[in-house]
Amino acid sequence: MPNCPSDDHCIDFPGRDQLVAMLDAAVASGDEHQVTAALRDTLCRMIRNPGIQLPDCMFEPIDDHYARRELYRSPDHGYSVVAMTWGPGQGTPVHDHCGLWCVEGVWDGRLEITQYELLERDGEDFRFRAAGGMQAGPGSAGSLIPPHEYHSIRNSNDDQVAVSVHIYKAPMECCSMFVPRQGEWYVRADKALETDAA
Ligand SMILES: [Fe+2]
Repeated sequence: MPNCPSDDHCIDFPGRDQLVAMLDAAVASGDEHQVTAALRDTLCRMIRNPGIQLPDCMFEPIDDHYARRELYRSPDHGYSVVAMTWGPGQGTPVHDHCGLWCVEGVWDGRLEITQYELLERDGEDFRFRAAGGMQAGPGSAGSLIPPHEYHSIRNSNDDQVAVSVHIYKAPMECCSMFVPRQGEWYVRADKALETDAA
């Protein structure tokens, strides 16, 4: 079985080299729209590829927060691949991605993904409207390209763990989260993003 050594850059798992080769090819495919489209397609195929199996620890939720574990960081292209493990009821507030493009796919279980449209901004106060929510199952992937990057993710299932895989342009160590204030208004706050040991 695959193990989970502590070195973030060399976690080994079945199909890892194939996954990295596919991601490298997608990332070299052009501008950010072409790259994210290619990554979306690649991620969908990876999820359905029985030869690629994530390390066992990526399926283990953490009690008090959703888990973020880095699967791979590209020394040549700079992108970062993070697996997130969502226990029942775990989720994020509305947040952005710090201006980085990202492609996200559901590997296992189901996630509720809601996109938000920015209607207005007054300093640190933001007015958002939910632009549509979807229940995403295994094999579905979507991309977020700034400025269309505001969203929330939640595992609304009562008893099933969900796992998603996220490919970021670069390691994301902080982002903005938006705390509901009144009606459609939210207040921005900085959020540091921790990485859990893999
Ligand atoms: Fe996100």
